[in-house]
Amino acid sequence: MRIYDIIRKKRDGHELPKEEINFFVEKYSKNEIPDYQASALLMAIYINKMNKQETVYLTEAMMNSGDVIDLSAIKGIKVDKHSTGGVGDKTTIALAPLVASCGAPVAKMSGRGLGHTGGTLDKLEAIPGFSIEMDAEKFINSVNEKNIAVCGQTATIAVADKKMYALRDVTATVDNISLIAASIMCKKLASGSNAILLDVKTGDGAFMKTLDDSFELAKAMVDIGCGMGRETIGMITNMDEPLGFAVGNSLEVIEAIETLKGNGPKDFVMLCETLGAYMLVLAKVCESFEEGKKMIQDAISSGRALEKLKEFIENQGGDKRVVDDYDLLPKSKNIVPIKSPKSGYISKIEAEEIGVSAMILGAGRETKEDELDLSAGIVLQKKVGDYVNEGDVLAYMHYNKEEKFEQAKERFINAYEIVDDKTQPKKLIYGVV
Ligand code: URA
Repeated sequence: MRIYDIIRKKRDGHELPKEEINFFVEKYSKNEIPDYQASALLMAIYINKMNKQETVYLTEAMMNSGDVIDLSAIKGIKVDKHSTGGVGDKTTIALAPLVASCGAPVAKMSGRGLGHTGGTLDKLEAIPGFSIEMDAEKFINSVNEKNIAVCGQTATIAVADKKMYALRDVTATVDNISLIAASIMCKKLASGSNAILLDVKTGDGAFMKTLDDSFELAKAMVDIGCGMGRETIGMITNMDEPLGFAVGNSLEVIEAIETLKGNGPKDFVMLCETLGAYMLVLAKVCESFEEGKKMIQDAISSGRALEKLKEFIENQGGDKRVVDDYDLLPKSKNIVPIKSPKSGYISKIEAEEIGVSAMILGAGRETKEDELDLSAGIVLQKKVGDYVNEGDVLAYMHYNKEEKFEQAKERFINAYEIVDDKTQPKKLIYGVV
């Protein structure tokens, strides 16, 4: 078998068989195929696309390029939840204890943030002492004893994906549905869960900007998951404006805690209830979506989920007192109101620009090497559909880097559209596949 022939075949629009896809992924992972030939093949795939079967083969080969975690020592059905990323997406911090407190085991591997999107690991690390490093034994024991553990993905999972993603990033081959679906799903499948719930974000702050592309990506990932024997559900949810009010690591931890205390923002609560209900159904802890939703609501109103959060924080070395004392979290020197330049209805808050603005303040990374300011970020006071008078506070900016404030503020203000006619917020949940 020669990589040259495989490139030519895809270039000419033919389907690649399993053996050829395996050959490429295996040899490229071992540095036995150079980047220039891998780039050529990725571009041929980008242009001529892969069908369903090829995409499943690619995912399987990428999954097998690294360790495949065995979670069979954990009792019960393990359900993983994955978000394709967005702005203000602190879902795991609230959802993991919610679902765990309802009896479903949560064994989750999460990622870090890059660019305008945040990452769960960074947010959890805003809690003093919290560690996302743990060996397999502690991970398994934690889930068996506490029903919950969240750790970082090891470097030995889906080795091919790391190399391929870095190459796609510099060869304009990222935004291909098969390549994105395989990249996300190979890591989920290698992480060992029995069932997968996908939260595919759509809109301005998401990877997928249009509803059609988002549905297509969700379907591709559900096909892969089901094709590989894991029950998989995909939800398409709104990321046109930030989720909830808080954007930034410790600020989002506070919002997640408030949500478990029953004071969460409407959109975020609805998302947690919906995702949580599906996770409980997938974990076979309940029989129907409605029953699952009631269980999630009860976990909040009874305080059970909040107690589970404390247990989770303590088990991973964190200071659980943060739940009752937010002063223990990193705090910015400056907290400055940003006022509305005009009166009217807010018709748009571009999520990506809000994410970039928070990143400029220090809440996110422009490059992988950047250090975060865990205290920095933005807390919105208004959402799409709200009326504001000129001079009303749109948001508070939290920051330490004084020299970045003006730039962040300009990006922030430009993200808003304020109009005379009343506008409605967009739907939060567009569909389920
Ligand atoms: N996230 C991933 O993990 N891979 C992609 O290709 C895109 C988003």
